[in-house]
Amino acid sequence: MSLSQLTFRPYTPADLAACGALAAEAWPEFASLVAPSERPKFLRSYIRICLPISTRLEVAELDGALVAFLFGSVEADFRPVGRPLAMLTYAGVGLKFLLGGYGRVARPLEVMRMVVGTEKQAAAASPSSDCSIELFVVSQAHRGMGIGRQMLERFSAHARDRKASTLSLFTDMTSNWGFYEHLGFHKVADFPDALNSYLQKRPMLGSIYLLAL
Ligand SMILES: CC(C)(COP(=O)(O)OP(=O)(O)OC[C@H]1O[C@@H](n2cnc3c(N)ncnc32)[C@H](O)[C@@H]1OP(=O)(O)O)[C@@H](O)C(=O)NCCC(=O)NCCS
Repeated sequence: MSLSQLTFRPYTPADLAACGALAAEAWPEFASLVAPSERPKFLRSYIRICLPISTRLEVAELDGALVAFLFGSVEADFRPVGRPLAMLTYAGVGLKFLLGGYGRVARPLEVMRMVVGTEKQAAAASPSSDCSIELFVVSQAHRGMGIGRQMLERFSAHARDRKASTLSLFTDMTSNWGFYEHLGFHKVADFPDALNSYLQKRPMLGSIYLLAL
């Protein structure tokens, strides 16, 4: 498969379903909290939470199909309304999740507590940075072709243009942290990841990585 046809463009709301499907494929254990038919819809809840905290949302297309997306945030691009909007979205998505609007989850309150707890742990473990990656997936069928590297380099170039100097991200043991290490990120913190420990039925860690731009 050739990458010469790979194109990049900003995310639009019409991409939500395709991004949900890619996220469900990337994190099957998380997706398996709901029935198979509800998995893309379930992952859309996570994407919705990431939208208002991201300032640069880009997708990659190959032969007209969406094959990757990277949502990142750059401190200098945040508008004053960004953070209140993010909190409102979080509350709205949380309520819809608890009411089963994203699929039926066993013990939704407990799952919600674990999601919030893990995010709090990640925030507490994160040193200050002026840009971050919020959500990043390349479709399974297109991994290992250099698409992830290109998307990361495009985001880093934008962040540098906006005078950012430190790129941070939160990842976990079920995600491809080896990719980040290969591209020069270094780990600055590990912490117990309650949600993934519950999903995997064994102790799992979340990690914070940094890259000097
Ligand atoms: C992480 C991810 C986006 C990488 O995308 P990708 O398109 O497969 O990555 P690339 O093909 O561009 O790889 C870039 C480089 O990283 C290397 N690499 C990729 N995965 C690696 C790993 N696990 N360990 C070491 N190196 C790795 C590649 O060999 C390549 O090296 P090179 O450019 O020096 O030859 C993709 O694996 C993915 O979507 N994973 C599932 C979701 C996820 O984990 N998201 C990120 C964490 S939140």
